[in-house]
Amino acid sequence: MMDIAVIGSNMVDLISYITDMPKIGETREAPDFEIGCGGKGANQAVAAAKLGADVMMVSKVGDDLFAGNTVDNLRRCGVDTRYVERISGVSSGVAPIFVDRDSHNRILIIKGANNYLMPADIDRAAEQLKTCRLFILQLEIPLPTVYHAIDFARRHHVPVMLNPAPASRELDMRYACQCDFFMPNETELEILTGMPADSEEHILQAGRTLLSQGLKNLIITLGHRGSVWMTGDSVHRVAPVAVNAVDTSGAGDAFIGSFARYYVADGDVRRAMTYASAYAAYSVRGKGTQRSYPDASQFQDFLATLTQE
Ligand code: RIB
Repeated sequence: MMDIAVIGSNMVDLISYITDMPKIGETREAPDFEIGCGGKGANQAVAAAKLGADVMMVSKVGDDLFAGNTVDNLRRCGVDTRYVERISGVSSGVAPIFVDRDSHNRILIIKGANNYLMPADIDRAAEQLKTCRLFILQLEIPLPTVYHAIDFARRHHVPVMLNPAPASRELDMRYACQCDFFMPNETELEILTGMPADSEEHILQAGRTLLSQGLKNLIITLGHRGSVWMTGDSVHRVAPVAVNAVDTSGAGDAFIGSFARYYVADGDVRRAMTYASAYAAYSVRGKGTQRSYPDASQFQDFLATLTQE
């Protein structure tokens, strides 16, 4: 029996810490660089596994220098990699990331092997996937694979969390409506609705527009403004945990992976959001994506400091 299956991406994060973006034709020096394991799927899997959940991934790596390290890292973090396959002739996914002096990030993705995760890969993992209590999906893999995973989950009564990231207006909302949780950030909310999400009022309006299409639970992550859970007839806000942010890359994934870990434990959405908010806050205090995620004991220590304040 598995707690969580992440059917999704992995990437190698190439993170440049910059002061200013160069103009066209300009060369600028940037103060720092980090390389690390990332990808929205892998980040979410690692967050949940570091907190003690049994997590498996269905994912693809290429046949380059990065592939072995990506699989080793997942294993070290406690993720079951039986269905993380290496394919020849393509690169692994990579993500050049630019973090500015305000700790905000801009991310490019080159999907590489992630583009080759197919519906047949889900069928190959079917016996294991049927034992899971939750699926987590994102949009860094082909949409037909995402839809196949949702169909599979419905057939086998497995709840699904869909993180529509990166946002794509091609996403067929009929599939999104079959998921138990739909979890965009505010930028993804704007792209999906074509509406502004720059104030609380606008966020709620855009959220209601999405919900009117038939979504069950909408959880919007709002960075330093916290998060909000909306259903057809309720709104629950979770305040942010204030910290000094160094690098916000992967904070949304930290929220989603940790939310999943706590949600599968007892089905309490409010409690899971409160923990996820703290987990994401911890992650922005350090550089990198997965590298900045605490394990269960580091997280417990952090929670203890919050209750003392
Ligand atoms: O959400 C952050 C992630 O987006 C990064 O780790 C990067 O790899 C991209 O997938």
